[in-house]
Amino acid sequence: MRGIQQSKMARFYQGKRVFVTGHTGFKGSWLTLWLHLMGAEVHGYALEPLSEPSLFKVLELQQKITHVVGDIRDYDKLKGLIKRFQPEIIFHLAAQPLVRLSYAEPRMTYETNVMGTVNVLEAARSTPSTRVLVNITSDKCYENKEWDYAYRENDPLGGYDPYSSSKGCAELVAAAYRSSYFTSESGLRLASVRAGNVIGGGDWAVDRIIPDIVRTLVLDKPVQVRNPDAVRPWQYVLEPLSGYLWLAYQLWQVGVVYDGAWNFGPPSRSNIPVRQVVDQALRTWGRGEWTDAECSGLKLHEAGVLKLDCSKANNLLHWEPVLDVEETIVRTVRWYFDYYHGHDPKGMWARTVAEIQFYAERARTKTISWAGVE
Ligand SMILES: NC(=O)c1ccc[n+]([C@@H]2O[C@H](COP(=O)([O-])OP(=O)(O)OC[C@H]3O[C@@H](n4cnc5c(N)ncnc54)[C@H](O)[C@@H]3O)[C@@H](O)[C@H]2O)c1
Repeated sequence: MRGIQQSKMARFYQGKRVFVTGHTGFKGSWLTLWLHLMGAEVHGYALEPLSEPSLFKVLELQQKITHVVGDIRDYDKLKGLIKRFQPEIIFHLAAQPLVRLSYAEPRMTYETNVMGTVNVLEAARSTPSTRVLVNITSDKCYENKEWDYAYRENDPLGGYDPYSSSKGCAELVAAAYRSSYFTSESGLRLASVRAGNVIGGGDWAVDRIIPDIVRTLVLDKPVQVRNPDAVRPWQYVLEPLSGYLWLAYQLWQVGVVYDGAWNFGPPSRSNIPVRQVVDQALRTWGRGEWTDAECSGLKLHEAGVLKLDCSKANNLLHWEPVLDVEETIVRTVRWYFDYYHGHDPKGMWARTVAEIQFYAERARTKTISWAGVE
């Protein structure tokens, strides 16, 4: 476990009571695994995994943590659980995260993403044990001006579609709770974190490019690619998670100067078109082809590329991305390849732990702050 358990960050999380909402999802499962490996006592609150397969089930995480199935909109249940567990740190990831679904289900999206956030903040407000809360929103929370400049944390919030707007609203909710309740005199430090277009093994959500590619490759069919020329900022799943974990550490150790909003995005050289991602994915898989899919049905607005300016995280947290975009795609696709070609599904636990270990080691050799050993 060298790399994962030896860092000062790992020693900090050892024995901490950490509450994670959305722990059954893609990012939530990786975060839960990482916290578990560092020795945290993790309680998770979310719906049952929404995809089949799911990373949560592949890793059998329900055997490693306290896993509670519940709706983030059910305030009484959520509050009761938080009161009983008395968490020291909360990571709030539970959300309806899909833009296209948000067009079909705007009410459910707002209830989950906005009132869900209110519920978590309100439950934390009456739980004195909670000293740090990290609220996970999205790069889509910004008013997208469709220009080439990168967005800073103090740029206006907005959102064209219901999902993006719900994340802008969740940011406003967090800001109001910070100024009204979690002031510098209070015992709770609150940050909101913004990342986007995360890829990595174990995501099987609908309507996302890597899961779509992998599902089709497994069936030996050509991959249908919508918008091959759309440029997106691709980022390995462990990159923003390292930022969230390190930010919570700093909020705990140092305090109020780390309150507020934080961008955790990839460098601009990671902004590449979908077609380049698909080409690299097929090369890594070893076979397969793709075709340009005619978009049929309802044409929904798709935002242009949105870049994040991460100077604040670079300068104040000394946080940096660890992998370049090519390695991000290769490591992601290899994980799925091993999943579909491995003979022992239980091997994916060791495979996924090794991925975090590799990432932590690489970060340490690059002298990135959170990976440092004191
Ligand atoms: N994946 C990305 O590229 C990306 C980009 C930007 C932001 N985010 C944000 O990161 C967070 C995690 O995203 P993800 O990709 O892991 O999504 P995911 O769909 O894999 O996981 C979502 C999680 O939220 C839970 N959830 C959904 N509705 C719920 C409800 N009503 N009650 C309780 N739990 C509920 C699900 O059970 C699941 O555990 C979300 O807040 C998302 O908006 C993700």
